[in-house]
Amino acid sequence: MLTNRVKTLLPEEVQRQLEKNLFRHQINKVLHGHPSPMYWKAPNEGVVLKKPEGTWKSRRVNFYIGIPYCIPTDPPHCGFCLFPTEKYTGKDAMNTYLDHLEMEATQYVDFYEGASLESIYVGGGTPNLLAPESYARLLEIARKIFPNMNDSIEKTLEGIPQLFNEAKVKAIRDAGFNRVSMGVQQMNDKLIKHSGRRQTRRQIFEAISLFHKYSLACNLDLIYGWPEQTVEDMLQDLRDAVDLGVRHITHYELNIGGRSDFSTARKDLVANVPTKIAMYQEAKNFLTESGYIRRTVYDWEKPEPNEKFSFAGAEKYSYENNLRELLKVEADSSITTNSMGAIGYAAINNHFGGPNTAEPATAMMNHKSLSKYYEDTENGRLPVERMFRLGLNDVKLTWIFQCSQEMKISKTQYRKIFDDCLYKEYRNIWSVLEERNWIRNTEEEIQFINEGEFYIPTIQALLSKARLEEISLASKLA
Ligand SMILES: C[S@@+](CC[C@H](N)C(=O)[O-])C[C@H]1O[C@@H](n2cnc3c(N)ncnc32)[C@H](O)[C@@H]1O
Ligand code: SF4
Repeated sequence: MLTNRVKTLLPEEVQRQLEKNLFRHQINKVLHGHPSPMYWKAPNEGVVLKKPEGTWKSRRVNFYIGIPYCIPTDPPHCGFCLFPTEKYTGKDAMNTYLDHLEMEATQYVDFYEGASLESIYVGGGTPNLLAPESYARLLEIARKIFPNMNDSIEKTLEGIPQLFNEAKVKAIRDAGFNRVSMGVQQMNDKLIKHSGRRQTRRQIFEAISLFHKYSLACNLDLIYGWPEQTVEDMLQDLRDAVDLGVRHITHYELNIGGRSDFSTARKDLVANVPTKIAMYQEAKNFLTESGYIRRTVYDWEKPEPNEKFSFAGAEKYSYENNLRELLKVEADSSITTNSMGAIGYAAINNHFGGPNTAEPATAMMNHKSLSKYYEDTENGRLPVERMFRLGLNDVKLTWIFQCSQEMKISKTQYRKIFDDCLYKEYRNIWSVLEERNWIRNTEEEIQFINEGEFYIPTIQALLSKARLEEISLASKLA
């Protein structure tokens, strides 16, 4: 499975692929990177964790804790959601789950010894289903692995608007969380109904005023390209977020996929690709004029404090920012790795071995079956459902994917990390994109410009296509 040789497409294949995909809905790779978990395999025997070696030894960890449960909706799964979840059945089930999280955490104590914990993110599922008394336990579990946890690091908890109330927000803050990521998706009461969620615009406003009262930084997740959403609906949501003083806005293009209700029953109601390009452009103009800085093709930060969110760091989203710097060249030319440590149901984590080792990096995904997750953790096994050992070539693609979200890839950093030329290795692809005026190739970096920004997920798919074919073939032959 390992290879260091970069596989790429011929120019005519690049043209053909692009023509084929210009009007197709794209899937963003924010969460899964390269290769997607559909290429990963069940481990043959128990998973053994190996600490990194050589020049990738200096490691930072961004730690994710997954919560499986969600409130049932009609249509199921909020209509659009592609994440694995379990139906919430009450406090007892949640406490049993937390007990198992703790069992899994103890297995990582030795492995993370000496690593530096940079941020914590509790996601899901719906973490703000937890009762007020349970939020502190989440951080106690993290402290089992990282006993020297620095209190000032970013600690984020994800949630949905209708489940925040004063007792919970206070408990979240008192537990030590300093940031909330709220999945709003749509502010408009009529449009959110497509998802079957019982969420109102009023609940969003109330939740944000609680975050303000308890000095919790907050991020809002919004989606564009939603069924029946017009450009004006989208702009109204962004106006509301700006007026509320929210200093980090994540504005995702709707991913349509799998057997979700949106991709089966509501596909005719979602915006087509040219409309989504227009929406992307309108959102960009509006947020730029409103003083927001684009951190990624999805993320907007407002650097200046306002009277509601005046504290330092209220605009930051360190967990995601750090993960994009998976290999970072420091001022003294040494390289630091930023890995994603993760525990819990369906959690995905990655670890670095080292550039000259047999396993430069490994990605693992925990069980999506709660009973299997429980069985493994109770028996002292890592609850891994599938994994993938990345060759250096895969690490390069992962790094390129992460950087491209920021709409630029540093050729200088690529050379320092991989000792190769980023332009030369993917020349067939870059040259076609240059002809379309989608990228600019400068001395220092490759920049995504014009429609190339919107099409970043499609470009990522082009960059990895040949390698994915190679992985599929190797898997068939195995
Ligand atoms: C882990 S998910 C869900 C978190 C939380 N339970 C919620 O519902 O908001 C985190 C974010 O991913 C984004 N997301 C989920 N499914 C998506 C899709 N099909 N297309 C675009 N964004 C999606 C949403 O904005 C969501 O807030
Ligand atoms: S609440 Fe969030 S994680 Fe749960 S089904 Fe809905 S979108 Fe998915």
